[in-house]
Amino acid sequence: MLIQLLYVSQPVGPITTTVTSTILEASIKNNKFQDVTGVLCQGDGIYMQVLEGERSKVNDLYSVIRSDPRHKNVELLLIEDIVQKKYKEWSMKLVHLSKNDPMVHMHHPEFDPYSATGKDAMKLIEDLIAMGKPILSNS
Ligand SMILES: Cc1cc2nc3c(=O)[nH]c(=O)nc-3n(C[C@H](O)[C@H](O)[C@H](O)COP(=O)(O)O)c2cc1C
Repeated sequence: MLIQLLYVSQPVGPITTTVTSTILEASIKNNKFQDVTGVLCQGDGIYMQVLEGERSKVNDLYSVIRSDPRHKNVELLLIEDIVQKKYKEWSMKLVHLSKNDPMVHMHHPEFDPYSATGKDAMKLIEDLIAMGKPILSNS
């Protein structure tokens, strides 16, 4: 059974390129092996990540990620059964998120992932991808 999970968190310390590439490297290696795919949005002091795959695999990975000391205040926003993966070609795609982005301003003016509904947060991610915001893609 496939599921999709979305959470939000706050990085501990600045998001440097070293932190990002270390996380991405591990993600790509492990996610490929577990057949997990998804998107990691970062910027403006938050991470938002979509994970999709077999339920047990996504649950296991989420437990590992939750206890990663590189972020805090990890909060589950959405979890649902899916028929097929939305991001099946991406082991983990990195997307830049900025509240000052004109699109974010226009379509999600009050956006705060900690108070948004899971569906609104997911919509923002879909909008960012549709607007060509991905800055790095790895498969
Ligand atoms: C915001 C964030 C997102 C992460 N996403 C993933 C991920 O998608 N896949 C993954 O394997 N590890 C991810 N990690 C890293 C894990 O917490 C953990 O460090 C890693 O899985 C350990 O892998 P290793 O045992 O191969 O070194 C993430 C960490 C953070 C802080």
